[in-house]
Amino acid sequence: MKSTIVLLGPPGSGKGTQGEKLSEELGYVRLSTGDMLREAVRNQTELGKKAKEFMDAGALVPNDLIIGLMKEKIAQAKGGVILDGFPRTVEQADALAEQLDVDLALNLDVDDEELITRLTKRRSCPQCNAVYHLVYNAPKTEGVCDKCGSALYQRDDDKEETVRNRLKVYRENTMPLIDYYGGKGTLVTIKGVGSIDDIFAQVKKVVE
Ligand code: AP5
Repeated sequence: MKSTIVLLGPPGSGKGTQGEKLSEELGYVRLSTGDMLREAVRNQTELGKKAKEFMDAGALVPNDLIIGLMKEKIAQAKGGVILDGFPRTVEQADALAEQLDVDLALNLDVDDEELITRLTKRRSCPQCNAVYHLVYNAPKTEGVCDKCGSALYQRDDDKEETVRNRLKVYRENTMPLIDYYGGKGTLVTIKGVGSIDDIFAQVKKVVE
């Protein structure tokens, strides 16, 4: 099995959904910068206070706040690691390369209109970070997390205008990583459209 996996793909492409399944079924440690930052915002830590305005606008949090945080989390992780949402800029990718080798950069490819439909109808769990979709992946009881029973919420950055800005930011800052990892021979692109389970079957084949 690949030991260090970077999940690439635009907002809403299914990085969290597939990353969580890899973690549950294959035992990977999943490190999600988005989940970490949202927790920091909820707890009003120094990082959270600095990150909030960028996240609310759909912009990237500055590299210097993210790189140090991720270096520490990666150093603490034991076993296979999935990086969900990091790196997101070439500067972050270079910093990661100084710490470890990436075995696989898995890129989920989904078109913009589908991404907007997914994100504007997403619901998230503030407690265990599980994600649902009102139509494609609804919780068993409306508004309640299947996994931990917490009340689900809509992320502030899942409003349509902010989603469109996140897509623009993705194209400008994160898409260059497709060529970055392509050049290193570690990139695999999977079409991220279809059922979550069918996509996961393809993901598993690439990872194993
Ligand atoms: P982050 O939380 O990482 O957001 P993102 O990359 O925009 O990704 P999402 O979580 O929105 O989507 P996803 O690809 O995980 O899709 P999901 O599985 O949830 O980052 C948030 C913010 O934090 C950033 O904007 C930035 O400000 C900051 N940040 C984070 N990392 C940073 C970094 N490294 N540097 C700087 N700033 C950083 O699925 C989406 C929806 O679709 C769900 O409803 C799901 O149920 C549904 N779905 C999934 N798969 C399918 C399918 N196959 N068919 C139908 N529906 C599906």
